[in-house]
Amino acid sequence: MVFSDFGSKFLDGTGIGELMRDLADLPETGDFYRLGGGNPANLAAVTTKFQQLAQQSINDTDQFERAFTRYGAAQGSKQLISYLVEYLNERYDWQLQPQNIAITNGSQNAFFMLFNLFGGVRDGVQRNILLPMAPEYIGYEDVAIGAPMFTANKPVIELVGEKQFKYRLDTNALSVDANTAAICISRPTNPTGNVLTDNEMTALNQLAQSNDLPLIIDNAYGAPFPDIIHVPATLTWDENTILSMSFSKIGLPGTRTGIVVAQPEIIDAITQMNAVMNLSTGSAASSLFCKLFTNSQIDQLISDSIKPFYASRAEWALSLFKAQFADLPARVHVPEGSIFLWIWFPELPISSFELYNRLKNKGVIVVPGHYFFPGIDNNWPHKHQCIRVNIAGDGEQLQQGMQLIADEIKALAITDRNKTE
Ligand SMILES: Cc1ncc(COP(=O)(O)O)c(C=O)c1O
Repeated sequence: MVFSDFGSKFLDGTGIGELMRDLADLPETGDFYRLGGGNPANLAAVTTKFQQLAQQSINDTDQFERAFTRYGAAQGSKQLISYLVEYLNERYDWQLQPQNIAITNGSQNAFFMLFNLFGGVRDGVQRNILLPMAPEYIGYEDVAIGAPMFTANKPVIELVGEKQFKYRLDTNALSVDANTAAICISRPTNPTGNVLTDNEMTALNQLAQSNDLPLIIDNAYGAPFPDIIHVPATLTWDENTILSMSFSKIGLPGTRTGIVVAQPEIIDAITQMNAVMNLSTGSAASSLFCKLFTNSQIDQLISDSIKPFYASRAEWALSLFKAQFADLPARVHVPEGSIFLWIWFPELPISSFELYNRLKNKGVIVVPGHYFFPGIDNNWPHKHQCIRVNIAGDGEQLQQGMQLIADEIKALAITDRNKTE
């Protein structure tokens, strides 16, 4: 069969496709350590609350009919949008109107739309999305309908103590050209758990404003929900910013509900794209999310359950790492937010992809780091020396899985030493 260039990309396999396959194909039982994928923690308080709301909705015929028996608006549920406008305006001085918000079927879906809205060919010239600091979210890489559209900058690597490091924005390398279409950053960053400082965000904002480019902020893990962020960080929005948010990481990825906050022209475009690609966004979950906003129930879930769980989980995972990798050439990115540990093996004698395969043979599923560097030269060793570990799942699996990773690194170091002696 003859496929288009666009089609062939999917037949050749994609990083995010592999990641989702690992998530879906793993048997429910057996000696597996599920440290791959981006599943959030299954927190009882969130699940129970949502189950109660779903139950109420099902028992109420009027609500049930509105949620299940008709297509919603292509912009997304009007009711949810009005709750979001009120909620965000109460917390931030953004003066949003309903025409500033669109709902999407998950924020992954929003990124497909946003990147192709700005990046790609215009007047015969390829226009690119600048990722000012890779590593960046694996889900961006393959969304381009046409040619690859990402350009990216390497970070400055700052060593922190004996076992940690932190990526800093390389402000000297920060520049755009006539073919830059937009700037995008995830904050907190997937895969690293980095949180760009307010100063770094100001530098990006100024660069975007002065070149009349949109700044896309992927806030999948940030405030006000799910607020999986352990350091102070100010969230800003203006007409030049496109803010992407998601309900996935509060613990409800199955609802596939994303939010875009942007100027009305962009929201109109997303609305049209929603109509073409999906007719409308799923309205079943939207009606339940509206209820989460009444009486600040969402804030309570965050402050009582979500935030404390991830803060203590990050602390514990870091202490595990320090104990298990104490004598090994390994460092971890300072976990400032999100749900991952990003581990760097500066002396890794094989690629992180080979390491991933070796670990997979032992039942330990992680994500190899090279997928997170779209637009970065393949010859940069650092690109092949890191792995991402999801810390949100079962604690025992995390502890044992990390130990198996440490054992593998030790075995590799010994083999390598023997080879060179
Ligand atoms: C940084 C980031 N952005 C976007 C997404 C997409 O999430 P969703 O489509 O579930 O909203 C993810 C998922 O893991 C993510 O980590």
